Amino acid sequence: MISQDLIVYLNGEFLPLHQAKVSVLDRGFLFGDGVYEVIPVYGGKPFRLAEHLERLDNSLAGIRMDQPLTSEEWGDMFARLIQGMEDQQIYLQITRGVGPKRDHAFPKGVAPTVFAMCTPIAPIPASGVKAITVPDIRWQWCHIKAVTLLANVLQRQQAVEGGCAEAILIRDGFALEGAASNLFAVLDGVLLTPPKGNDILPGITRDLVVEIAQDNHIPLEQRKILEDELHNAEEVWLTSSTREVLPVIELDGKTVGKGQPGPLWLRMNALYQEHKEVLRKG
Ligand code: PDD
Repeated sequence: MISQDLIVYLNGEFLPLHQAKVSVLDRGFLFGDGVYEVIPVYGGKPFRLAEHLERLDNSLAGIRMDQPLTSEEWGDMFARLIQGMEDQQIYLQITRGVGPKRDHAFPKGVAPTVFAMCTPIAPIPASGVKAITVPDIRWQWCHIKAVTLLANVLQRQQAVEGGCAEAILIRDGFALEGAASNLFAVLDGVLLTPPKGNDILPGITRDLVVEIAQDNHIPLEQRKILEDELHNAEEVWLTSSTREVLPVIELDGKTVGKGQPGPLWLRMNALYQEHKEVLRKG
C-alpha cells in the first residue's frame, strides 16, 4: 500500500499523493493515450537511467509526442523523489494531456501530463515461479511502452487466477515475452531470447542479460522461440526492472528442467547482482 503522504511529482510540482489529481478529461484516463517507464533504484541511484530515458524518447516518438523534460531535469526530479538507500522503483507516466473535449484526434496546443513517483521494490522470489502460456491478444506496436495495458492486464490476471506469476504470450506459434517481462529460454545449453522488433518491449533488463551473456562467453542466440521449444526448454527465465531475472520452474502445469532454478540462471543471477552492487558502491 502506497502512503497517501508520499511526495510525488505532477506537472512541475512536488506534492503529497493525496493532493496529486488529474482531470477526468486527461487523455491517459479517456484513451490510455500516454507512455510510461519503470526504473529500478539501488543504493539511492537509478539503474541504467540513460537506457530508460532513451527508451522513453523512443516511446514518445512512437506516439508523436515531444520529450517534456531534459535528461538532466528527469535526473534532478528523480533525486528529489528517491528516499533513502533501500531498493526502490521510479514510475513515470506522460500522457497527451487534457483536451477541451473527448475527441480521438490529438488536441492542439495542450501541455502533456507528467507524473512520477518512487516506491519500494519487492524482493524477487529466487526459488522460482509458475507461469502459463496464453495467446497474445495485444496490438502490433508492443515496442512502445504505452499505458494502454488492458490486454496485458487481462493476461496477467489469468495467470494470477491460475496460481501463476506470469503469462507468456504466444503469437503465430512463437513465444514472445511475458505480460510485463521479457523471455529467455535455455535449449541444449544455448541461451535464447526473441530478437527486438515491434512484437516485444525492448526491455532494459533483457539488454543487460544479453550484455552479461556476451561478456561472459555464455552461448546466446537472439532468435524467435517456438512454443514447442519453450515447453522443452531446460530453463525458462523472465526479466524485468522489478523482477530482475526470474526463473520459471513450472510452465502450464509441467515442471521446467528439474523444477528448480537451473545452473545457468544461478550463474546469470550472480552476475546480474554484481552489476547492482557496482551501482550501490559506485
Ligand atoms: N514492465 N515486456 C513488457 C510487456 C513489460 O511490460 C516489461 C516491463 C518488460 C521488461 O522491461 P524492463 O526490463 O525494461 O523492465 C518486457 C514493467 C516493469 C511494468 O509494466 O511494470
